[in-house]
Amino acid sequence: MTANPIYVALDTDSAERASALAQQLRAHVGGLKVGLEFVSANGPQGVRAIVASGVPVFLDVKLHDIPNTVAGAMKSLAPLGAAIVNVHASGGAAMMKAAVAAAACVTNRPKIIAVTVLTSLEAADLAAMGVAGSPLEQVVRLAKLAKESGIDGVVCSPQEIGAVRAACGRDFLIVTPGVRPAGGDLGDQKRVMTPSEALKAGADLLVIGRPITGAADPAEAARKIAAELGMN
Ligand code: C5P
Repeated sequence: MTANPIYVALDTDSAERASALAQQLRAHVGGLKVGLEFVSANGPQGVRAIVASGVPVFLDVKLHDIPNTVAGAMKSLAPLGAAIVNVHASGGAAMMKAAVAAAACVTNRPKIIAVTVLTSLEAADLAAMGVAGSPLEQVVRLAKLAKESGIDGVVCSPQEIGAVRAACGRDFLIVTPGVRPAGGDLGDQKRVMTPSEALKAGADLLVIGRPITGAADPAEAARKIAAELGMN
């Protein structure tokens, strides 16, 4: 059986809630994602507590600074034991190379993946920032740059999976948020795919938050999605 691709987004600043969810969900998911909200509130100890649940952790901190500073941050983050840490591809090749090199301060370094274009940005926002071309063109351009810089993969929206897979090949990790079970509440996500559609399009890992964390029984919600994907 292939590994469970579901990474649950624990979008909370509460260490107690995150730990409770981690315990409920650990048997039904492939990983847990914590982001800036959680890390800002709970720091390295909070991250270590989630890592201690025994499930792979994606540390969604989206580092973006000069190479020296990103390397310094990565040297502090890599030993926390996360399986995946991310940076912004728009920080440039030197920054991405510095992040990967710094992560190797631990044996069995975390995978380093890059955010291409935030899905909150539309074509008009990119134009206002002086970026020519469509969001999709920019995503593919940054994904290729990330790959050339030694980055292990990217975060991209479901609509971008095919183009990134075609440009970057099979061995490049594609992590996709904006995933909703068929018939599920979309929340503020606009362009969604179901879990099986996203996998068929070429995603490796699916970041799913509210459809699981907001369910009356989060473990059951996760189990159902995993079952739909042919897991367990
Ligand atoms: O609750 P939901 O399934 O929408 O959560 C998706 C998670 O993925 C959230 O943590 C959100 O911040 C994150 N994310 C996203 N779109 C991106 C990058 C990250 O929804 N482009």
